[in-house]
Amino acid sequence: MNIEKLVRKNILNLKPYTSARQSHMEGILLDANENSFGSVVDDFENSNYNRYPDPFQKALRKKASDYLGIPESNLIFGVGSDEIIDLLIRTFCEPRIDNVIVCEPTYGMYRVACDINNVDVINVPLNEKYDIEYETIISHTNNNTKILFLCSPNNPTSNLLDKNVIRKLIAELNLIVVIDEAYIDFANDGGFVKEALTVPNLVVMRTFSKAWGMAGLRCGYCVAHEEIIRLLFKVKMPYNINKLTAMAVSQAIDNASVKDEYVKEIIKQREFLFNELKSNKKVINVLPSDTNFISFKVENPREVYNYLEKNGIIIRDRSNQFNFQGYLRVTVGTPDENKLFLKKLNEIL
Ligand SMILES: Cc1ncc(COP(=O)(O)O)c(C=O)c1O
Repeated sequence: MNIEKLVRKNILNLKPYTSARQSHMEGILLDANENSFGSVVDDFENSNYNRYPDPFQKALRKKASDYLGIPESNLIFGVGSDEIIDLLIRTFCEPRIDNVIVCEPTYGMYRVACDINNVDVINVPLNEKYDIEYETIISHTNNNTKILFLCSPNNPTSNLLDKNVIRKLIAELNLIVVIDEAYIDFANDGGFVKEALTVPNLVVMRTFSKAWGMAGLRCGYCVAHEEIIRLLFKVKMPYNINKLTAMAVSQAIDNASVKDEYVKEIIKQREFLFNELKSNKKVINVLPSDTNFISFKVENPREVYNYLEKNGIIIRDRSNQFNFQGYLRVTVGTPDENKLFLKKLNEIL
């Protein structure tokens, strides 16, 4: 596998921006036009907010590498995994020439990020079980296909994709295979992180926005072969992860057991919601979930959505998504929220 052949020429030849904090984080720092006197924000934990953050994300990568049991050189952090999606497209896809494969219904940002970057999207629909099929994906690739985005567990269908098919695709395809594992904490599966250390064309994305409960802080990361990580570092904004976020994420990793407790509670509530929806005769279908949400099918999704909204309960109407007619998506809430949701749902059904 020759990764260089997949990279855009301008990225290969790109002389990356050299930022001041790349070379020095300490000393008499008169190199970056910062405020040498201090910061308006209280400087708790001695983070020196008047100084730019570390462009190499060294402390954060060390923390995450210890937690995940992988080398730091295989990790890069982004402003949410949404930034990683954009970075991958900008690194590998030549606008108006290259294309990307997505398997819909799936997370909408892959397509939006391609549209923004003027990169064609080829939709290879998931099958009737909302899984991927080896032959169909292979037959849709061409010489300009650079990335295949897979989401496992998938949003909004909430299932894990077939691991054997994924492995076959990674081995067979001469392109970057991205597995978005935003919801992996809620699945009984370890995911692909370990495999991404040795496989040259595999990128695994994770986020602190879901199980860790840190969506407001904007932090995600990906694990990949060092060569890919080096390319992404070349393209990313120098100071993408701010010091407050880095500190919060570092603290969160120290408290990982709290995340594990949340996951247990959310799974318990997910099973409760699933069973209640399943036993409701007016609900046409409920998809089993490996995530923190449940998608269910009703006859009149818009009407149901509107009634819930009028009652202050906001879910997601996914009924207009490709291959997902009739489906609504509800995030697992607290026990009280779930009970109220079910009560109001029953009223409208
Ligand atoms: C599958 C999937 N990937 C990524 C994201 C975005 O994650 P982040 O908040 O890290 O940008 C979401 C958010 O809903 C998602 O559903």
